Amino acid sequence: MTLLGILKYPDPFLKTKAKKVESIDDGIRALIRDMTETMYQARGIGLAATQVGVDKRVVVLDVPDDEERRERGKNLMALINPEILESSGSIKYEEGCLSVQGINADVERASNVKIRALDREGNAIEFEAEGLFAIALQHEIDHIDGILFIDRLSPLKRDMIKRKIKKALEAEERAL
Ligand code: NI
Repeated sequence: MTLLGILKYPDPFLKTKAKKVESIDDGIRALIRDMTETMYQARGIGLAATQVGVDKRVVVLDVPDDEERRERGKNLMALINPEILESSGSIKYEEGCLSVQGINADVERASNVKIRALDREGNAIEFEAEGLFAIALQHEIDHIDGILFIDRLSPLKRDMIKRKIKKALEAEERAL
């Protein structure tokens, strides 16, 4: 098991539209194990391969039923080549991201989604999700399309956040 480095905005690799996984081999399964460990280490509820510098459509999630009481591993799921088949409704939630440090902002997304993907054994799976689970799925699938949650904000809000991050990074550089 290897802990992977999580890329931070504005790393240009985060804009990568990741490639489809053509064959699920031991390399992919090792990637999934490493991503899972990295997600837990960072206390995240989801992680996409592009966030660890890997150009593949792979995401891992472990979305708690109750945000106040996380049970590690209970809802752990690895999805390969996930696609949103249907989406409906709307929900606003204050999102954060392991690649966008120190920023949280309200994002509006579909409240219900139907997903198709492959599991780590290569079986085709389809399922429906709602609430925080649906939000996390959309957030992670965005990542493998090269989209960050801040890209989903209004241009005004997005620019404000980007300036704030730039300032924080500059302050960090001066501190070194
Ligand atoms: Ni994220």
